[in-house]
Amino acid sequence: MITLKTDAEIAKIRICGRLVADTLQMIERHVRPGISTLELNDICHDYTLANAAIPAPLNYKGFPKSICTSINDVICHGIPTDKETLQDGDIINIDITSILDGFHADSSKTFIVGKRATAEAEAITNCARECLYRGIETVRAGSYVGDIGAAIEKHAHKHSFSVVRDFVGHGIGRIFHEEPMIPHYGRRGKGVRLVEGMVFTIEPMINAGSWKSQILDDGWTAVTIDGRLSAQFEHTIAIAADGHVEILTDAG
Ligand code: MF3
Ligand code: CO
Ligand code: CO
Repeated sequence: MITLKTDAEIAKIRICGRLVADTLQMIERHVRPGISTLELNDICHDYTLANAAIPAPLNYKGFPKSICTSINDVICHGIPTDKETLQDGDIINIDITSILDGFHADSSKTFIVGKRATAEAEAITNCARECLYRGIETVRAGSYVGDIGAAIEKHAHKHSFSVVRDFVGHGIGRIFHEEPMIPHYGRRGKGVRLVEGMVFTIEPMINAGSWKSQILDDGWTAVTIDGRLSAQFEHTIAIAADGHVEILTDAG
């Protein structure tokens, strides 16, 4: 069942989305060689609470921390730890979901650490960002979920990268992950038809090698099967009652 949102509900998700965007902007200056992913977690956790919000990942289906930190070959759901510090040349995705006034907003960015990134690290990070916006550009009342994935796949393949199939975007609102699922692959004109009131994420994960993933023994961390790089960007998108399409997780 797809829960359509009123403009009043979208307004609440927009307020939460602004906080999520601010959190990502705030954490960027801490993304430096030597900082641990646990320190990044704690800074975001404190910032979220200070803004009267709740970090959605904490204890979600047993997830132990407040944000996801996914470095290099980690596709998504990396768990912050004091054992892991950022190295010059790493790429790290920081994924923030907050709950404010009962509504979720979800966004992530991949950051390049320091000054020594490889050309491939730069290229995959740029491609993943472009894939997100190519997907968003297809969204309108009357378009199809398959249009989003088709646009993303086309752009990733043009750069000889692959698209992860094991994790998808999702409807969002009072519930973190709800229908519809938004695959980042697909065919134009296929899948659910988009209508006014839908709010969902688009969050393409782009791999340098194989699209296949595997989960580490911690039960969460998803990594590429070949050890090659993966990058991701995510926004929460709404289609308002008048058909206006808006990114709810943009910093104003
Ligand atoms: N924020 C992630 C997403 O984009 C989900 C994280 S679930 C967690 O959907 F439990 F790992 F936090
Ligand atoms: Co999401
Ligand atoms: Co997310």
